[in-house]
Amino acid sequence: MMNKKIHETVLLNESINSLKIKKNGIYFDGTFGCGGHSKEILKKLGKHGKLYAIDRDPQSIEIGKKISDPRFYIIHGNFSNIDILLKKYNLKNKIDGMILDLGISSLQIMSKKRGFSFYLDGPLDMRMNPNDKISAFKWINSSNTKDIYYVLKNFGEERFAKKIAHKISIIKKKKLISTTKELSQIIESIVPRKNKHPATKSFQAIRIFINKELDELNIFLKKSLNFLNHKGKISIISFHSLEDRIVKRFINKYNKIPNIPVGLPISENQIKKMYNIKFKNIHRIFPSLKEIKKNIKSRSAILRTATFKSQNIKK
Ligand SMILES: C[S@@+](CC[C@H](N)C(=O)[O-])C[C@H]1O[C@@H](n2cnc3c(N)ncnc32)[C@H](O)[C@@H]1O
Repeated sequence: MMNKKIHETVLLNESINSLKIKKNGIYFDGTFGCGGHSKEILKKLGKHGKLYAIDRDPQSIEIGKKISDPRFYIIHGNFSNIDILLKKYNLKNKIDGMILDLGISSLQIMSKKRGFSFYLDGPLDMRMNPNDKISAFKWINSSNTKDIYYVLKNFGEERFAKKIAHKISIIKKKKLISTTKELSQIIESIVPRKNKHPATKSFQAIRIFINKELDELNIFLKKSLNFLNHKGKISIISFHSLEDRIVKRFINKYNKIPNIPVGLPISENQIKKMYNIKFKNIHRIFPSLKEIKKNIKSRSAILRTATFKSQNIKK
């Protein structure tokens, strides 16, 4: 199958199992990519099931359009706009399972012209949606040292952020930085080579910033509560600590009950309602050693999954 060659889906079985797919259920894949998760969901759905998939990359939408299946809808846009993109389908409180597999697909990273990779020399771009206004080229060449430092430090946790930002600023006074190779060489001249490529953190930081990835995730998570059905599942795969922290805090926010004195004349359900408990069956799952051996990119993946408990259901 096409997607098998292009993109090796991470934690595929674990994430699909966590959705506990109901034959006639309604599902949502917010990061269609090359369709690895979507195709697996479709295999498990019955005749009356439905799958709505989104991606911000028009190339992924082209792949999605090739799936000819009356149960499947492919929609172009950002998952943070889920409310607008799904409006006409009337899916509030109806979705039985939502999945996000964050980050970029191999289709994106392996394409020179998309400018995501420090291994391939191409134009400095990094937009998941090439129609977005600001590319990495535009941003890096129009930002001051302080702003570049901020991005490298906060979105890449790069120890050498200050030195890199300073050097970028000096170099671009003479010549615009226009390719992934030029940027990577600047970083390599500062960051010592260890296990990972020296430009890993800086490229990650710039990509997260250009695509507003953390904002996207925060907005989506808040909106997801309006779409999940009672007992609906939410499963999110993230690839770095910044994303994972957001998912963890979101689930915890709706799961923590403060210590309550024993013997209060109040039931556990009443307490849960009072404290806005929305999630149960919370799990954190890592790739197996076997998967990491087969696909080294999976080594940083974390799947967090939880079951939504609607407060409108009386027990
Ligand atoms: C890791 S890939 C998903 C791969 C997919 N699960 C598969 O198995 O083929 C991530 C995809 O999510 C898309 N994406 C990332 N952030 C997005 C957002 N905020 N809204 C919509 N799509 C997004 C990217 O364009 C990319 O295609």
